[in-house]
Amino acid sequence: MGEEVAETGTARVVRRAKGIKGAVEVPGDKSISHRAAILGALAEGTTRIEGLAPGRDVGKTLSCLHAMGAEITYGPTAGRVSIEGVGSPPTGAGLRPPGGPLDCGNSGTTARMLAGVLAGQGVGATLEGDESLSTRPMERVAIPLRKMGAEVTLSEEGTLPMGIGRGGLTGITYHSPVASAQVKSAVLFAGLGASGATEHVEPIRSRDHTERLLKLFDADIETHASGGGRGEYRARLTPAGPLKGQEVAVPGDISSAIFLVVAALLIPRSELILKGVGLNPGRREALRVLDRMGAQIEIKNRKTLGGESRGDLHVRHSKLTGTGISGASVAWMIDEIPALAVAAAFADGESYVKDAEELRHKESDRVKAIVHNLKRLDIDVGEFPDGFVLRGRQDHDAAEFESFGDHRIAMAFHVAALACHGESIIKGYDAVQVSWPGFPDVLEAITV
Ligand code: S3P
Repeated sequence: MGEEVAETGTARVVRRAKGIKGAVEVPGDKSISHRAAILGALAEGTTRIEGLAPGRDVGKTLSCLHAMGAEITYGPTAGRVSIEGVGSPPTGAGLRPPGGPLDCGNSGTTARMLAGVLAGQGVGATLEGDESLSTRPMERVAIPLRKMGAEVTLSEEGTLPMGIGRGGLTGITYHSPVASAQVKSAVLFAGLGASGATEHVEPIRSRDHTERLLKLFDADIETHASGGGRGEYRARLTPAGPLKGQEVAVPGDISSAIFLVVAALLIPRSELILKGVGLNPGRREALRVLDRMGAQIEIKNRKTLGGESRGDLHVRHSKLTGTGISGASVAWMIDEIPALAVAAAFADGESYVKDAEELRHKESDRVKAIVHNLKRLDIDVGEFPDGFVLRGRQDHDAAEFESFGDHRIAMAFHVAALACHGESIIKGYDAVQVSWPGFPDVLEAITV
């Protein structure tokens, strides 16, 4: 019997699954897709992207770029898009001011990275977002951009709407207090239009897709990692000639794959292959955590394409034990913590997450959202400012979960529901549209 589902408004009813079996390709990586589209729009010539992430977030980046003059053609098949770059004066037209505010929807990556692009290209515009994005902190990008000479306005709370004024920027060395790839990308994208070199320094290397793509697009960028990426990390960009349009093959998104990985681990008799999943060193930490918990995951068929590594994940049902997550490398699995929390809920013994205060500033307050839903499972759970602690067990009865309007919370607790006895409900299920509209259909197809 397959997973039985019924839609009630945006609530989803999910029954226990007997197994997860098959081989699937997960959607293209969202982080790489945003960046490839931005660089494609700024470059001279055509950029063809294959495996572009579906979902509303990347759609928002594309519509903002289109509003500033980039021509975008979708197809001929899903996930393919070509972008005619605007280049920069004197050889290219450059981005033009949009006719109105740029709507970033729910996407923090769109808002923060475009802030850097607008400032660097000297395009005046206002960035807006939905209710959730309008509560998220934006000072973290306003501070370095102002240091480079940009005019940046924010609400009194330091949130959107964010106004970016015109103004020639000067390259700086910016020591970021947090390892944030969004901040780093905003600074480096601004640096593309600044006079002189721009250097970004962070306490530990955050995901480095921007640096890898800048190299691919012919920018002059050097990086230096100490302690194998676990120590201070520097990225230095020197403005050179124009960026050149490229062919970009986007690997599968590990932050999406993780939900299916956890589903296959938790549900007896599961055997699942996830093909072509991106394995960037700043993204695969969750696999190490699951390995520590006793997960049977093999990586096969590894290869590198366009500067990013990928491989097939072979996952088998496993008996998990609890573990602790803390320290600087939390940044390398920050988006995977909702799925890891569900894995921990079904693992024997205690698990904890510490040093993850950043979780409170994502699409929802994810500490609160995770704790709320774990309590629905009747789990003994404690909440801290920077994380939570819980005692897991293998069996749980069905429950009513809440997405808090957050795609990763909806998907994580859909997976939990598949492993619970009886019929669970996930309220606010429509949130999955943000990163993976096809998630419930893919899950249904591999559920036995
Ligand atoms: C992202 C970086 C991370 C991550 C977000 C996507 C990116 O945020 O949580 O979902 O694409 O750069 P921070 O860089 O703010 O930690």
